[in-house]
Amino acid sequence: MKHIRSLLDLSIDEFHGVLDLAASLKKQLLGGERPDLLKNRTAALIFEKASLRTRVSFEAGMAQLGGSALFLTGDVGWRQRESIGDFIRVLAEYCDFVVCRAISQNTINELAAHDVVPVINGLTDESHPCQALADFMTMKEVTGSVEGKQLTFVGDGNNVARSLLAACSMGRVKFRLAAPAGYQFKPELIQRVKNHAKWVDFEQSDNAAAMLRDADFVYTDVWTSMGQEAEAEKRNSDLRPYQVNEQLMQLAPDHCKILHCLPARRGMEITDSAMDSPASIIFPQAGNRMHLQKGLLVWLAKQNGLI
Ligand code: CP
Ligand code: NVA
Repeated sequence: MKHIRSLLDLSIDEFHGVLDLAASLKKQLLGGERPDLLKNRTAALIFEKASLRTRVSFEAGMAQLGGSALFLTGDVGWRQRESIGDFIRVLAEYCDFVVCRAISQNTINELAAHDVVPVINGLTDESHPCQALADFMTMKEVTGSVEGKQLTFVGDGNNVARSLLAACSMGRVKFRLAAPAGYQFKPELIQRVKNHAKWVDFEQSDNAAAMLRDADFVYTDVWTSMGQEAEAEKRNSDLRPYQVNEQLMQLAPDHCKILHCLPARRGMEITDSAMDSPASIIFPQAGNRMHLQKGLLVWLAKQNGLI
């Protein structure tokens, strides 16, 4: 059974296949068509952390495809009332997909290990594959052919940044990380991505100017991710020089676009002037979460013989 525990569950061809399917469904929607490819299908969404985009885009996406989604939080009592294994085996009796936002990547891996229903990672401490796929779709839309372009991530080398490294390498986009020591990628991550994608063009440095010089896209995310609140004060002080603002954007070429996965802490990692500037493609980027995930759901349904 095919699961999306991380982007490394997709081969390079599959990665492009999902993106093509998402682009075609988006085109159909903009033309007024909503094909019911997942008619009567159900996705269970189990979330251990807050969400606006991931939750609503999966719910709306399932509805547009003729199916439905069930949003589940802590009150279903997994771990307290029953084991994860029993929980997922029961969900598999009712549902066609499980989307999970988990505190730990191990939870996603454990759910998928039971192999009873396709599991999609909706964010963990390690990764955010749906976000990175949708972001790749956005960059492709802006540039036509995104291969050979450069994305510079500024700030904390976090879950979103790690998945972006995988997406960029699978799609042959250069990746730069501008981050202070302690917030940069570990060599094991780069090696793992390289082994899978067979191509990585990556550099990281605390020198933002060097990382931004050839950027086609600048990306940032919160300095304190969900679950790291106790470290907020230190993070704010360490990452302050990496705020995406007008001054920082002067270090990048004029054509450079601004991305953010949202939610943003305006005035912290990004200023109003950057977020609302003509270079910002942040809101269409958020919109693509739904289009991409519709493609991913239909693709997974096909892979797993559901349709
Ligand atoms: N970008 C993103 O995943 O947003 P949510 O946390 O609101 O789902
Ligand atoms: N890095 C952020 C992303 C939120 C979508 C977090 O994990 O909280």
